[in-house]
Amino acid sequence: MSATALPEGITGIHVLPADHHDGPWDSIITPPGLKDRLLGTALLVLRHGRRLKQMSGTPHGLVVLTGPPGTGKTTLCQGLAQVAALAVSRRGATTFVEIDPHAFPSEMLGESQRAIRRLFTDTLPELAARRPHTIVLIDEVEAFAVRRSIASFETNPADVHRATDAVLSGLDELRASSPHVLLLTTTNLTVAVDEAFLSRADLVLEMEIPDEEVLTRILRSSLTELAVQWPGLRPLSEDEALHTKLAGRCAGFDGRRARKAVLSAIAQRPDLAEDPERLTIDDLFTAIESERSVR
Ligand SMILES: Nc1ncnc2c1ncn2[C@@H]1O[C@H](COP(=O)(O)OP(=O)(O)OP(=O)(O)O)[C@@H](O)[C@H]1O
Ligand SMILES: [Mg+2]
Repeated sequence: MSATALPEGITGIHVLPADHHDGPWDSIITPPGLKDRLLGTALLVLRHGRRLKQMSGTPHGLVVLTGPPGTGKTTLCQGLAQVAALAVSRRGATTFVEIDPHAFPSEMLGESQRAIRRLFTDTLPELAARRPHTIVLIDEVEAFAVRRSIASFETNPADVHRATDAVLSGLDELRASSPHVLLLTTTNLTVAVDEAFLSRADLVLEMEIPDEEVLTRILRSSLTELAVQWPGLRPLSEDEALHTKLAGRCAGFDGRRARKAVLSAIAQRPDLAEDPERLTIDDLFTAIESERSVR
């Protein structure tokens, strides 16, 4: 579907599973158990959402991933959509809908409220009727469900408050009309997300700055990816003791920064950029040190 044909606020509609969506799930390295909880919640909603609607304490089908920038929230949601779609594929395809909460204008009185209402009461239920499974990603949801208790009426016009109210009632309506829709949301500003929105979540997962063990695996994974392109780097990618030492120097880095440090190692000098196979252990340590010093 071309960008112009997409409904208001929607930046992408994909049919999953699709081969080119393989990758993100495995690329994000998490502590044990985290991916199981995510996939478990996703499958429960996709497979049994309609049945669970009959029970008290109905799930909202809402997952919130919180955590600092660069901890893999968006990528993990994209990956989850693909693995969940694969797991339910015997029963049919999945529509994956991406929403940009910044696309709802707040300057015009009442306009964003109406647009959000249309999204939850018309657009999403219509999309959900197309295929047996539907997953919706709202990235940076704090722009959408602004916490009303801290949003001042001066800096946040009344319309923002009404937009948050519209999101909350929209969620309730979507739950009633389409209980099998899975809503994935991310934020790096949990304090800015409305409490009533968070309380509707079936799962709030905190993505943390990686510890040394996870950093070691991220660095190994980045070096392994480089070695696929430049086989001469295989010794560096297989040196587990080196990965642990490098991770020790990356303490406090988020995942994005750790991966960037490896890439920046081959961008340090023209000769390395020309021929990455010349990368040495010293180059890696130097790149990490300069990454540490700039931030
Ligand atoms: N735990 C991790 N394991 C491996 N790679 C990671 C991890 N966390 C982040 N990355 C790398 O950082 C990149 C950026 O991650 P992503 O954009 O998903 O983070 P985010 O949490 O959504 O950040 P932001 O809050 O800034 O939007 C990923 O594509 C991935 O390469
Ligand atoms: Mg993100």
